[in-house]
Amino acid sequence: MERFLGLLLMLIGTLSIIHIVQAQSQQEFISLDCGQPENEPSPYKETETGLEFYSDAIFAVSGETHSIQANRESEFPKPYRSLRYFPHGLRNCYNIPVEKGRNHLIRAKFIYGNYDGFDISPNFDLYLGPNLWATVDLYRQENGTTEEMLHIPTSDLLQICLVKTGPTTPIISTLEIRPMGNDTYITKSGSLRLHTRLYLSETEKLLRYPDDVYDREWNAYFEKDNWTELISTTRAVENSNDYDPPKAALATAAIPTNAKEPLKLEWSNPEKPDDQYYLYGHFAEIQGLGSNDTREFNMVLNGKVLSSDPVIPKKLKVTTVLSVSPMTCDGGECSLQLVRTNSSTLPPLLNAFEVYTVIQFPQSQTDESDVVAIEKIESTYELGRIDWQGDPCVPQQYMWDGLNCSNTNISTPPRITSLNLSSSGLTGSIAAAIQNLTQLEKLDLSNNRLTGKVPEFLGKMKSLFFINISENDLEGSIPQSLEREGLELHYQGNPMLSSSGVNVLDAIVASAGVAAILVVVLVLFLVFRKKKPSNVGVVHPPPSTPTVNVTSVEMQKRRFTYSEVMKMTNNFEIIIGEGGFGVVCQGTINGSQQVAVKVVSQSSTKGYKEFTAEVGLLLRVHHTNLVSLVGYCDEGDHLALVYEFVPNGNLRQHLSGKGGRSVINWATRLKIAVEAALGLDHLHTGCTPPMVHGDVKTTNILLDAHYKAKLADFGLSRSCQVEGKSHVSTVVAGTPGYLDPEYHHTSHLGEKSDVYSFGIVLLEMITNQPVIDRNRQNSHITPWVESELKGGDITKIMDPKLNGDYDSHSASRALELAMSCAHPTSANRPTMSHVVIELKECLVPKNSGENMSQGTDSLKAYSFVHSDGPLSSFNITDSQV
Ligand SMILES: *[C@@H]1O[C@H](CO)[C@@H](O)[C@H](O)[C@H]1NC(C)=O
Ligand SMILES: *[C@@H]1O[C@H](CO)[C@@H](O)[C@H](O)[C@H]1NC(C)=O
Ligand SMILES: *[C@@H]1O[C@H](CO)[C@@H](O)[C@H](O)[C@H]1NC(C)=O
Ligand SMILES: *[C@@H]1O[C@H](CO)[C@@H](O)[C@H](O)[C@H]1NC(C)=O
Ligand SMILES: *[C@@H]1O[C@H](CO)[C@@H](O)[C@H](O)[C@H]1NC(C)=O
Ligand SMILES: *[C@@H]1O[C@H](CO)[C@@H](O)[C@H](O)[C@H]1NC(C)=O
Ligand SMILES: *[C@@H]1O[C@H](CO)[C@@H](O)[C@H](O)[C@H]1NC(C)=O
Ligand SMILES: *[C@@H]1O[C@H](CO)[C@@H](O)[C@H](O)[C@H]1NC(C)=O
Ligand SMILES: *[C@@H]1O[C@H](CO)[C@@H](O)[C@H](O)[C@H]1NC(C)=O
Ligand SMILES: *[C@@H]1O[C@H](CO)[C@@H](O)[C@H](O)[C@H]1NC(C)=O
Repeated sequence: MERFLGLLLMLIGTLSIIHIVQAQSQQEFISLDCGQPENEPSPYKETETGLEFYSDAIFAVSGETHSIQANRESEFPKPYRSLRYFPHGLRNCYNIPVEKGRNHLIRAKFIYGNYDGFDISPNFDLYLGPNLWATVDLYRQENGTTEEMLHIPTSDLLQICLVKTGPTTPIISTLEIRPMGNDTYITKSGSLRLHTRLYLSETEKLLRYPDDVYDREWNAYFEKDNWTELISTTRAVENSNDYDPPKAALATAAIPTNAKEPLKLEWSNPEKPDDQYYLYGHFAEIQGLGSNDTREFNMVLNGKVLSSDPVIPKKLKVTTVLSVSPMTCDGGECSLQLVRTNSSTLPPLLNAFEVYTVIQFPQSQTDESDVVAIEKIESTYELGRIDWQGDPCVPQQYMWDGLNCSNTNISTPPRITSLNLSSSGLTGSIAAAIQNLTQLEKLDLSNNRLTGKVPEFLGKMKSLFFINISENDLEGSIPQSLEREGLELHYQGNPMLSSSGVNVLDAIVASAGVAAILVVVLVLFLVFRKKKPSNVGVVHPPPSTPTVNVTSVEMQKRRFTYSEVMKMTNNFEIIIGEGGFGVVCQGTINGSQQVAVKVVSQSSTKGYKEFTAEVGLLLRVHHTNLVSLVGYCDEGDHLALVYEFVPNGNLRQHLSGKGGRSVINWATRLKIAVEAALGLDHLHTGCTPPMVHGDVKTTNILLDAHYKAKLADFGLSRSCQVEGKSHVSTVVAGTPGYLDPEYHHTSHLGEKSDVYSFGIVLLEMITNQPVIDRNRQNSHITPWVESELKGGDITKIMDPKLNGDYDSHSASRALELAMSCAHPTSANRPTMSHVVIELKECLVPKNSGENMSQGTDSLKAYSFVHSDGPLSSFNITDSQV
């Protein structure tokens, strides 16, 4: 992100936007309402805190949603009334973008609420990446439990996983992430798991945001028998230090009723006597002192004085006293006493107090580049395996099915050494991302429907010693590089694949002797082939004949005759669109599958030969955000493409509200943008050879019934330029306004051209302005946005149809991103992979801190019990103001 901002700084006149972002980035909260029903608006403003809660749907890969038992709903604020439960798979994870290296408060809440009617409380484990965070046991926790910690993530993605450990199903109600200030809650090692956080007051109010700028939750606590409450006559207690405890927590304090006695706080955890503690005390003098009154006291833990100097609270000003190293309590019994000094005229006082235990996360995550590669492979093949969540390699018992990893010791990141996707229904080509698994030793892709050539890179992977690509539809010849010493290659059952260097025809011409041997081999092969020999090292399959270099078996299967096309469209009855290539009709195949049939106009179609070649490529492209090609027809003059039918119109219609389409809200727009970007990224990085869409625009982004975006019309730019009678001329690829300005002098469309067009699409989604409007002073949308933004006020350009209902932080970020994509120089544009990451961060909820309603009535209706019993130890203290 840092790098990206740097790139933006070089950008033309958009500095003012960056200022807006910086001003607001103080509150980059992520608040997820887990299991929020799909039909409810997301985000929504939680009434007590004013925080924007988002549905967790975009961060959770799996799980189902439900509401707690209806008669209990009134007991809880809205975010806790729904939950996500995970009936399938052992480990289910959330992937949440965070800022690596920054301390974050991470809080998860779990309320069972008898949602399933079984009245059996769940019990399961919570993991942070590969490490155990906590065991969640909801037995007798009718009001739920909370797990909270302060943790510095070591990567940009936080993986929070729920792991089934018994017969019950894991659940989660909310997930909240708050970046913390620098230089606070520092430990010698490990992270801090919250044990207790309280402020001393006789009220019962729970304090959190907006009282607490970091949204820490402070429970009120008071021992009436032993303590007397002090209440500040003014609420204006100065609270600013690095820890910023809420003013409201400092405005009250407890003193021992018997002024001679110390003020005592006790807690114990006999089950974990070795737990290490960090303590944080917050003090402010809130009593009006007489001229010769003094209040000073020592903090004593289990008989040991913690600081060299006594604590002297300052008048109406916070002093925070904290542990600088961890402490333990004998036998897990902790007793903290505030003992007045001999010279003090007043008893000790305490305003607020925090106790944390140290939690270690010793297991290294799997090597980051291996993780990126395996995730790319997963998305390329759309595996969607329920167990492919969380860290791929560790803990070992949850290792992804089909992998094996090297696992030397816990402080070394594991590496993926074996990938077995045999019999997994894979289609398309051999994924390029496999080459980034640099320590891979064994690769089994056998028994799938893989097509295309065997890639050269397999031979260059140094660790690889075993490959099985048998029983696929691969074609071409085996690259020479794969014939290296020590590499065991199995590839029988690929009818179109020949061994390397053996070009049968040349061989026959060159030498009759060789030809004779070859004939023998071929005969042997044909004989044995019937019996499916497994020993392929000796017997090679026949080479593909030169005439079938385009049409593979797979292509034949998806080829329709013209009469079939007429039948599926009922003689082209329902026309649903018209474009540069001809009309698009609705149709049905196999009696139920709905398809869109693009009938390429019968007039002279140039590049007919390329058509079949490109169709061959397109048939191999599979991605959930790309409209997939079901089949094609090329019979004489008749060319047609049969696509998956996407029922809900295109993005342009949903922005304009035309054609009876609803106008979509900001969150949905961002989601669509992410999905379209994923589709494009797949074309650029997930396909071999990489593909350029060439015509990215809002009318080419189709939406399904759930508003999932699917990119249409990719890859045909070169072969399907229809000339002559067609009423829309597509002289160059692309559409005016969306077309990369560099194209005009280079005549070359590359990946970055798609990035440019995507930037224009984003601008359209943000502003809902026409891309080209001759009535504007700046007719093209990019200079228009730039000039309107001179003052830095983004509301001037935002789509009025949004009615101001968008997060301005998120909008500014999306806008910055759009402008960087639409940069006139391609080298300055980000890649689509980068765009995806940035867009996902725009999706991350932010709170600007403005317009928050002060929840005076608080969240007191329920109090969460921390699953880990009471408080524990203090040491050297350091007081700061
Ligand atoms: C925290 O530290 C980082 C780098 O050390 C710095 O860039 C950032 O501005 C700091 N944030 C705050 C709130 O001080
Ligand atoms: C008051 O102090 C006594 C002795 O330390 C303790 O036993 C008792 O639990 C305290 N009262 C409350 C309400 O905590
Ligand atoms: C406060 O100090 C003054 C003079 O220094 C003395 O007369 C007075 O008795 C003291 N008051 C108390 C409560 O100690
Ligand atoms: C405080 O007073 C007690 C009893 O009067 C005495 O034992 C102790 O040594 C005194 N402490 C200091 C630091 O003067
Ligand atoms: C995984 O690799 C280890 C050695 O690294 C080996 O002992 C184990 O059998 C392998 N497991 C599988 C399922 O191949
Ligand atoms: C883990 O392995 C690395 C490299 O093999 C080694 O340097 C390190 O000392 C080992 N750590 C432990 C705790 O064994
Ligand atoms: C891959 O997994 C299949 C079963 O899923 C197994 O039959 C095959 O032997 C495995 N391949 C390797 C190389 O271990
Ligand atoms: C392999 O990794 C490199 C560096 O991380 C990356 O630039 C490249 O795009 C990756 N290749 C594939 C095919 O994912
Ligand atoms: C390669 O895969 C095929 C098909 O799954 C299988 O029949 C064959 O035994 C495998 N070969 C080896 C050596 O594992
Ligand atoms: C749950 O909350 C209700 C209402 O605040 C309270 O009466 C009840 O005692 C709580 N239950 C538990 C187990 O804490």
